[in-house]
Amino acid sequence: MREVTATILENVRIAENIYSLTFATEEEIEVRPGQFCMVGVQNFPLRRPIAVCKAEGERITVCYQLKGAGTRALAENYKQGEKLSVLLPLGNGFYVKDEEKRVALVGGGVGIFPLISAIRAYAGKKEVYSYMGFKNRAAYCLPYELQRSDRLVVATDDGSMGFHGTSVQAFMAEIDDVKPDVVLSCGPAPMLRALKKATAGRNIPTFVSLEERMGCGIGACLVCVCEKTDGAHARVCKDGPVFDINEVNL
Ligand SMILES: Cc1cc2nc3c(=O)[nH]c(=O)nc-3n(C[C@H](O)[C@H](O)[C@H](O)COP(=O)(O)OP(=O)(O)OC[C@H]3O[C@@H](n4cnc5c(N)ncnc54)[C@H](O)[C@@H]3O)c2cc1C
Ligand code: FES
Repeated sequence: MREVTATILENVRIAENIYSLTFATEEEIEVRPGQFCMVGVQNFPLRRPIAVCKAEGERITVCYQLKGAGTRALAENYKQGEKLSVLLPLGNGFYVKDEEKRVALVGGGVGIFPLISAIRAYAGKKEVYSYMGFKNRAAYCLPYELQRSDRLVVATDDGSMGFHGTSVQAFMAEIDDVKPDVVLSCGPAPMLRALKKATAGRNIPTFVSLEERMGCGIGACLVCVCEKTDGAHARVCKDGPVFDINEVNL
């Protein structure tokens, strides 16, 4: 993990309430799919955790949804050429075994963004089946990244685009045809719970990336602690954010 002062290359709106922020670090930083960074926003004591979508040498791209004061300040006050303080890379990220050839990705809301890094890592090397859920057509973004998948199903809550329903429902409609070797997922807790329930008993290794509230992002403050199914506790920032779906209470 490093603390870097990055230079903003671009910070632009790409869909309703969604921004893409690309910054350059002084040297190349290796980032695994599913890892995240903590972005410093002036006048906010706590950095904001945001998944890395793309890491190309010194260029890193993250995408963020406007949620509260921190992400709004990030969108409004940070322009091209300005400096940004970032901690990265953080967390464990996704691991896919060599023998796992068919990878299903199930994402919803801002959970799509860490899965973009998985598409970039595995497209062309594995068969990638992506099921991505958006609120509506206006929230749909990053088509060129998503279309690197061998199969892409876009789901919308209101049916304004693609499959009418959730990404979990879209995935379950095809699971018997796809027969994935492994499932990687990220999204709000109710979505992950629905995935766990729907895939129970199928014995498909399934990994979920959790979005807990965070303080430090580096394992020191315990704000992000989650409960494991064996009764132990884990720090989402340091021990995760990616866990086996059966390892954590969702
Ligand atoms: C590992 C990880 C990766 C994430 N990746 C992305 C991403 O790629 N794109 C994206 O849009 N969002 C992502 N989030 C959620 C994002 O961190 C929050 O939306 C953001 O911190 C909200 O900040 P705010 O100041 O706008 O909102 P506020 O609600 O004003 O934030 C208040 C405090 O709560 C924390 N907080 C609020 N919501 C969340 C949340 N869902 N998760 C964690 N902390 C939260 C903030 O960091 C801040 O400290 C991720 C969260 C985690 C834990
Ligand atoms: S956010 Fe501080 S320990 Fe995880």
